[in-house]
Amino acid sequence: MNKRDFLKKSSLGAVGVALAPSIVMGKSRPHNRLRTAHIGVGNMGGADLEAISSHKLVDVTALCDVDGNNLAAAKKLHPKARIFTDYRVMLQEMGGEIDAVIVSTPDHTHAPASMMAMQMNKPVYCQKPLTHHVSEARAMNKLAKEKNLVTQMGIQVHSFYDYKLATLLIQSGIIGKVHTVRAWSPKNWGYDGAAPEGSDPVPATLDWNLWLGTSAERPYKEGVYHPGNWRKLMDYGCGTLGDMGVHIFDTPYNALELDVPRTIKNECRKPTGFGFPENNVVTYEFPGTKHTAETLKWVWYDGLGAPEMHEDLQLPGAENKKSKKKSLQKRRKRP
Ligand SMILES: NC(=O)c1ccc[n+]([C@@H]2O[C@H](COP(=O)([O-])OP(=O)(O)OC[C@H]3O[C@@H](n4cnc5c(N)ncnc54)[C@H](O)[C@@H]3O)[C@@H](O)[C@H]2O)c1
Repeated sequence: MNKRDFLKKSSLGAVGVALAPSIVMGKSRPHNRLRTAHIGVGNMGGADLEAISSHKLVDVTALCDVDGNNLAAAKKLHPKARIFTDYRVMLQEMGGEIDAVIVSTPDHTHAPASMMAMQMNKPVYCQKPLTHHVSEARAMNKLAKEKNLVTQMGIQVHSFYDYKLATLLIQSGIIGKVHTVRAWSPKNWGYDGAAPEGSDPVPATLDWNLWLGTSAERPYKEGVYHPGNWRKLMDYGCGTLGDMGVHIFDTPYNALELDVPRTIKNECRKPTGFGFPENNVVTYEFPGTKHTAETLKWVWYDGLGAPEMHEDLQLPGAENKKSKKKSLQKRRKRP
């Protein structure tokens, strides 16, 4: 599936359910509609906007993006919405006319934007990975609890049929006690080089200062950060493990009712100091639960060459997969 199809299929499946007006608004609201404000409306933000606005009780009231082209495209679809480049101005000016906020910016802006919205008692749907730093996720969790807000992170797979089925197969004991989990992503989006030198002119349609947001000042460089190239960079994203692990860990981790691992070992390429160490093979050892062997081994692979198939995953009678398996085994030695 290509990136566009994935985003479309993914978001249409779950966001509408998460933010259904009856769930977010409870019974106390005088009107029966949900007025939404969207922070980041390009790429995934565009898919979120499409999914959420497809609900007949949703009114898209405000749109915010630091890229004028993405903002203009969203405004075209929602001409009644007011538009902003700075989410702080949007929330201040429109606070009384917004019932829920959707945050679909790069990861480093998730917490600042979501925290401000939640401080104003707004329910928030925030894209995955929830935050850039663990401390931010804890602060968001605390605030949402204190304010009793409806919130959700954009890991739509959690609402898919496959998630429920996998959980049922594990928790009902149908597949027996699990001893090993193998999880991986060969996704290779984003800039993955050394820190660039020099600078490029900032496009007239981009507010680079607002894109940087709470991160350190840095000269603009084409093809390195915006749009979508920031994922593997330490100041803005969470690397492939954070980007895709958040989706892929979700099902087995929750279904197996795991807690904190006893040990974590990582083999990866040498870190650059600018980007995350990619090409990871991370081995976790978890204490057993009622669904696992005494100890559970979990291996995560990412980067080009991450395995697409492993003999552990071979179903009985799946001989037709043999040739594929062989070729993949050549690509990478696995623990
Ligand atoms: N759930 C999923 O399946 C899924 C898929 C893709 C991306 N995502 C997540 O969605 C988020 C966005 O990813 P993307 O691929 O769309 O990135 P992107 O860089 O392609 O798009 C980000 C958008 O946010 C805008 N933006 C950046 N800073 C902003 C700010 N301070 N205020 C307002 N707008 C701002 C950009 O101009 C752009 O329109 C990430 O956190 C990513 O992990 C989730």
